[in-house]
Amino acid sequence: MRILLLNGPNLNLLGRRAPEVYGSATLDDVAEQCRARAALLGHRLESLQSNHEGELIDAIHAARDTTDGIVFNPGAFSHTSYALHDAIEAVEIPTVEIHISNVREREPWRRISVTEPACAHQIFGRGVTGYLDAISHLHYLRAHPPLTLPYGPHPDQVADLRLPDAPGPHPVAVLVHGGGWTDPYTRDLMDGAAVDLTGRGTATWNIEYRRIPPVGGWRDSIADVTAAVDALSSISGDHCLDLDRVTVIGHSAGAQLAFFAAKAASVRPAGFVSLAGMLDLGNIGSGFDQLISTFLGDEHIHLPMVDPIRALPGGVPTVALHGRRDRSVPPDQSRRFVEAARAAGERSCLVELTDADHMDVISPRAAGWEDVARACLGC
Ligand code: DQA
Repeated sequence: MRILLLNGPNLNLLGRRAPEVYGSATLDDVAEQCRARAALLGHRLESLQSNHEGELIDAIHAARDTTDGIVFNPGAFSHTSYALHDAIEAVEIPTVEIHISNVREREPWRRISVTEPACAHQIFGRGVTGYLDAISHLHYLRAHPPLTLPYGPHPDQVADLRLPDAPGPHPVAVLVHGGGWTDPYTRDLMDGAAVDLTGRGTATWNIEYRRIPPVGGWRDSIADVTAAVDALSSISGDHCLDLDRVTVIGHSAGAQLAFFAAKAASVRPAGFVSLAGMLDLGNIGSGFDQLISTFLGDEHIHLPMVDPIRALPGGVPTVALHGRRDRSVPPDQSRRFVEAARAAGERSCLVELTDADHMDVISPRAAGWEDVARACLGC
């Protein structure tokens, strides 16, 4: 795959321009990291930056016959340039829009992107990592294009369905991404897991959901994930899904949501798999206080209602998998949850991966993935 990395106005100043917002990496650093990520996935990447709208449009047109995917940070043009929107739309090359900063938490005019509707996906607020995630997204989009279906009216109430290349009925893995329930983190995080598991013979349903206020909040997030699981019953006929073999799999904060969805959904899952899950919120450490109060909208009184360990029994067999090198969510979360689940009479099993960190448990290229895949497929 040939990938074009395109950066718009003022991004030549990366490293010097507002490092508290954009970080200290220069544009050359970014291009180098992107080249390395593309090479790792077997792709070639070329990089171009311009401060001029017309030059960016020309570069997009020229890409038509030479490029399979574009990673584009349009800078401030994304808030104003219908011409760039039309250029992206016209060439029909899958394009991922990226913003280094969290444009939704800055000046109101930055919340609007007129270029985004022409793009396959938008990533923002993940720093320079967003560029790398965008390359991975293009890779997995090409490896196995999903069918994206709504399960509700809100733009975040959608999910990506991927079907195995075999006759059904297919078992289903529901994937619930993490990211601390915050806006910048979306289901592209689970692309790799989705493509890999689908290749092993299970349908995957990689869901999006409303996250923190003002868009979501704990009630909406849990309701959305539950509704996404239940939506399987309306698509199972068309896609030959086996509703008796549904596994709900959540990563990090997504495991907290997956637990409650597995407990409440009318489509009864056969299992719940937690990958580096936040499962004992009352004992997760003060580093999570801010995140949890944002999720709860300062309704701390509700903590017991959203804390998986306090809501046991969940009624579904569990595998809790955790990397011992996880520096984001302490492995103790999984240990304590499994202990409590067993005490509550549930079937629950702990898998600790010696060499895995927080993101390894959702990365098919990481050591330990075979164990993760086995747990997700119920082996
Ligand atoms: C930006 C966000 C834009 O609002 C801004 O004008 C930029 C950079 C980002 O990467 O966060 O130039 O695209």
